[in-house]
Amino acid sequence: MARAWPGVVEHYAEWLPVTGVTPRITLLEGNTPLIRSEHLAQRLGDGVALYFKYEGVNPTCSFKDRGMTMALSKAVEEGAKVTICASTGNTSAAAAAYSTRAGIESVVLLPDGYVALGKLAQALAYGARTLAIDGDFDDCLALVKAIAESYPVALVNSLNPYRLQGQKTAAFEICDRLERAPDFHALPVGNAGNITSYWMGYTEYHEAGVVDARPAMLGFQAEGACPIVAGEVCERPETVATAIRIGNPARWQEAATALDESGGRIEAVTDEEILEAYRELSGEEGIFCEPASAASWAGLKKLAAEGFFEGEECTIAATLTGHGLKDPDRAVEMAEEPEKAPNDLETVAKMLGLA
Ligand code: F0G
Repeated sequence: MARAWPGVVEHYAEWLPVTGVTPRITLLEGNTPLIRSEHLAQRLGDGVALYFKYEGVNPTCSFKDRGMTMALSKAVEEGAKVTICASTGNTSAAAAAYSTRAGIESVVLLPDGYVALGKLAQALAYGARTLAIDGDFDDCLALVKAIAESYPVALVNSLNPYRLQGQKTAAFEICDRLERAPDFHALPVGNAGNITSYWMGYTEYHEAGVVDARPAMLGFQAEGACPIVAGEVCERPETVATAIRIGNPARWQEAATALDESGGRIEAVTDEEILEAYRELSGEEGIFCEPASAASWAGLKKLAAEGFFEGEECTIAATLTGHGLKDPDRAVEMAEEPEKAPNDLETVAKMLGLA
């Protein structure tokens, strides 16, 4: 029998700061599909091969599981009894799940009223002590940082270096699948941990000679929450993509370095562009992701419209960071109501244009 997938910490142990005695706190995250675009890619240009790294099929339905398996494995190794994080929803879902898996407590601070329903459901279901703070994500992060400095709780936001270590495994998986690095890597940017992690992963594989080049990193922020694009803290971040509704990213400096070293770009996309991309991914490609994730595709289209990929034979990887079911309210709001129909064969056949 083929060896079962053991989760990212075990699979990539030699690339991670773990030893034989580090516990593996895992829900078998990672090994997510790299799906070649069949329908949307051609809009970027004839020579473009586009792949979606679909992180929505992780155990808690976002890429955060990669960082959280690593953070919890180290937290348990170091004797932690409680984790704490601030979150726009996905980090808290993962922190709650992996803390429970580890048999320890979790505390999550969320911006009251700005967390998608599925994510809130997860924090509650996994049993986190959940505080809805009268403030935004940046306020929540400032609170948890202060608490972690004064009390014996393990901070598991991406300020925790182990989170980045775990998340870099997504870059490894892409290279392992393609047997090379892509030319471009597109992803949404919020707190800027993920772009930092991918760049770390690509760089490590490159330095070890596993791949002979690194991609240019293409980061996309929502126009109403785009501090890195604007070059200044955004005091009142606002976007439908609540996952990336962040005004002062914790990994700003590292993201800037990744963009710079890779010769990449960071751009803002409007809520309208995000929602159009969101609809296209599910309705035309068959991949349902949450709004923030669709910033990857929205941004690629924007660059293509400027002629960015013109005449280039290139391979692009785009991370779809979270599952569409994370935000069911948005999905239903954007769609037509289902049609009412009687329980009657003839009428249903007629309605469908079959009879
Ligand atoms: N996409 C989704 C679905 C996210 O949940 C996040 C971040 C990002 C993209 C951006 O990643 O922060 O590493 O730049 N969510 C965090 C959270 C902030 O609390 O779940 P980033």
